[in-house]
Amino acid sequence: MTTELSTDQFEALRQLITRRSGIVVPENKRTSLEGKLASHLAELGARDFAAYLQRLSTEPSTGTIWQEVFRRVSTNETFFLRNAAQVKAFSEHILPEITRVQEKRLFKRIKIWSAACSTGEEPYSLAIQLSEALGDKVGEWNPRILATDIDTDAIRSAMRGHYTGRALTNVPRPWLNRHFHVEGEGYTVTSQLRGLISFKPLNFADDKEMAGQINMDIVFCRNVLIYFDIDFRKRVVTHLYNALRPGGFLVIGHSESLRGVHEGFNCIRFPGTLIYQRPEA
Ligand SMILES: C[S@@+](CC[C@H](N)C(=O)[O-])C[C@H]1O[C@@H](n2cnc3c(N)ncnc32)[C@H](O)[C@@H]1O
Repeated sequence: MTTELSTDQFEALRQLITRRSGIVVPENKRTSLEGKLASHLAELGARDFAAYLQRLSTEPSTGTIWQEVFRRVSTNETFFLRNAAQVKAFSEHILPEITRVQEKRLFKRIKIWSAACSTGEEPYSLAIQLSEALGDKVGEWNPRILATDIDTDAIRSAMRGHYTGRALTNVPRPWLNRHFHVEGEGYTVTSQLRGLISFKPLNFADDKEMAGQINMDIVFCRNVLIYFDIDFRKRVVTHLYNALRPGGFLVIGHSESLRGVHEGFNCIRFPGTLIYQRPEA
């Protein structure tokens, strides 16, 4: 049994991973990919990478085998209240604008999508900001935060809502006291916060599921487009555009850009950050 990944097999594996998830494994990461997948290959009892490739190509992306591949190749780095300028723009400008629009509606409802939410720090941050901004009246707005990720392990961890150390660095003490309770070495989110969020696995490559997301007031899709090639970025951002109601907002990572990706958005400048808006109908 050999777990060496040949150049041709590396190419085939890279292509397969990109086709199934959009994730581009850089050309110079052969050894790293080999290291990440060798034990998976062994767990599956595959003879070598040729047999492993064969197995992967016949498995559905939604099955446990591909879930394990996605878990191993994705980067889950995240933390609470990431990017101060975006946090401020959301609380001080975007949320008031959303409530202004929703106020006119008979049935008020704030719909937020945290797309590629990793282990949950982003959607919980949004839930905290909503609760802080809307106070006792938060329930009257029927806020729903949909939080999705390709990595089912990350989603499971997000649903637990238990955090320690660095992830919480940006959370001010009064917010920590109000929205978490101490548990063991760390902090667990309150059930009120948890109740604002629906978690579910969702792969951006699943066009049918992506097309099913509609009427969002705001979508956060941060620090994930960088892992995709230009064609997949276009495909994902087109879905996100369609998922927004006219006038809805899109927030991407501060090092990401929509230039050459999608021309349909208006770009709004806030101190230290740019936020995109689907034009009003
Ligand atoms: C670096 S984290 C970003 C987390 C959070 N949005 C933030 O900015 O802190 C990137 C996440 O994108 C997810 N991801 C990668 N490819 C994906 C895909 N095709 N569909 C959905 N999520 C994906 C990864 O599993 C990972 O959790």
